[in-house]
Amino acid sequence: MRARLAGGVDTVNGVSEAIWLERLTNGFSGALRAKPVYASFCLIDAGDAREIIRVDRSGPNGEVRNAPEAELQSEGEQAHFKETMKLAAGEIYVSPLDLNRESSATETPYWPTLRMATPIFAPNGKVFGVFIVTVDMRPALDRVRSSAPEGGQIYVVNDRGDYLVHPNPAREFGTELGTRADWRADFPFLATALDAGISYPFGCQSGNCGACKSHLVNGEVAMEGYSEFALSDEEKARGLILACRAVPWQDSDVAWLEA
Ligand code: FES
Repeated sequence: MRARLAGGVDTVNGVSEAIWLERLTNGFSGALRAKPVYASFCLIDAGDAREIIRVDRSGPNGEVRNAPEAELQSEGEQAHFKETMKLAAGEIYVSPLDLNRESSATETPYWPTLRMATPIFAPNGKVFGVFIVTVDMRPALDRVRSSAPEGGQIYVVNDRGDYLVHPNPAREFGTELGTRADWRADFPFLATALDAGISYPFGCQSGNCGACKSHLVNGEVAMEGYSEFALSDEEKARGLILACRAVPWQDSDVAWLEA
């Protein structure tokens, strides 16, 4: 920082900016090799919003490498840069969990990321740069997937209603991929109840546990796939449904069994 602010040479110890950048890059590379969950470290110049250093895993076979000068990008239009520039010292920006983008396009094959960033201040109190860590969220989401109980399914949704984890991966990150799949459309009774602040009983949300078993008071629903364990034919004949698997065909009223 001192070297760059002084025009290329550190006024305290005479070390050039190039040497400082090399040291910093080596430090980033070592840290990235030691932390597989991190996808990249990046330092951005607050003045022109251009990357000063980026160390990522784009080398052969995913090797850690230092992005060459020609690949360094402007991040000025990115939300993570803009939002971090508004922060005070010590504050951290955490991005939404979304698919990684490079040069404003979603990278393929798709992979989910989270960005954390913090501003770096110069001695004069102005923001000198922004430091960004990109986290590869694939291992974390895979752990969530594999934690489903036997016979159960796990769904994770974001605040837009997009699936981040779905038994059918093709339904994940729908808004970003142009294949929007809103959990509210899939689980209408549950969504209505939760939106209304009603503590509706539910568990697996996939027709396997029976926790959401309810009376269909009136109306008509179609039932999506469920297990006999969760709802027997005899219960269905008595007018019981699973709220998590019921798709209403008309205005319908339901009441859960404890009501
Ligand atoms: S929540 Fe488990 S069957 Fe509906």
